[in-house]
Amino acid sequence: MSNTAPLRPQPAASEHPPLKARNVAFDWADTPLHWIPGDPFSTHTINVLHLLLPAGERWFVHVYKQVLPHIRDPRLRADVIGFIGQEAMHSQAHHEVLPHLKAQGLDPAPYTAQVDWLFEKLLGDRTLPPGRPRRWWLLERVALIAAIEHYTAFLGDWVLNARALDARGADPTMLDLLRWHGAEEVEHRSVAFDLFVHLDGGYRRRVRTWATAFTALVFLWQRGTRFFLANDPSPDGGQASFREFVRAGRRGVLPTTGAMARSIPQYLSRTYHPSHYGSTEQAMAYLAASPAATAAEARTAGGA
Ligand SMILES: [Fe+2]
Ligand SMILES: [Fe+2]
Repeated sequence: MSNTAPLRPQPAASEHPPLKARNVAFDWADTPLHWIPGDPFSTHTINVLHLLLPAGERWFVHVYKQVLPHIRDPRLRADVIGFIGQEAMHSQAHHEVLPHLKAQGLDPAPYTAQVDWLFEKLLGDRTLPPGRPRRWWLLERVALIAAIEHYTAFLGDWVLNARALDARGADPTMLDLLRWHGAEEVEHRSVAFDLFVHLDGGYRRRVRTWATAFTALVFLWQRGTRFFLANDPSPDGGQASFREFVRAGRRGVLPTTGAMARSIPQYLSRTYHPSHYGSTEQAMAYLAASPAATAAEARTAGGA
């Protein structure tokens, strides 16, 4: 290749096995409200996933089902179908945590109602005329999903390596949910970006939709953490602040602000490809040992 060739996203030489949904189930009966002991702020910051992902990942599935007829590459099409199956399962698994939170005195409904509106109405199918306007809106949403998946892969890689959560006695069932999900995010981390490149890949669209996704995620996340802390029925509910976030990052129970800042130029690099970040081998090793994923495999093998 000549030195003057345009920079393009280049995948690392990594392969993943065919993507499949693992039909996991979790028993929340023994999970305490503050599942990172003595740390309501970090617990609730991570709990925001349960507020955003049920509607968010349902929306991924909804958009991708519309995209399937436009995919001309059979391998990518198979990846997208596998991705749809995994995201539908993630959405359901996080949704099933919500009744447990409610039973512990933390009713998530006022917040999830707003999140549902955001994904179903604001980002839903608009009444647009067929042709260019409808295609524009579909491509815009495909690019938004690619930007969001940059962060789900970032968080997946983080949680697989967050040993401080184990050291601080985090609830094993919640850790398994987060790491099973995180491992599948790492496993399928290239699918959304490959799909975006396949259908469009325009750099301006990538930057524009990244800015939208990043701003929305920061806004929703800090609001969700504040919502949980304000409604936490325990006396040691704690306070939400950027300072707390920085401190939790230093303790290793949340991502560091430095790692989050570095994730921005990564995605905006013209040579960005998700396969350069995270380890498929590590993700597959976790899935081979995860209590929920191995129980799901056993149920599937037993035909249950
Ligand atoms: Fe997911
Ligand atoms: Fe994902």
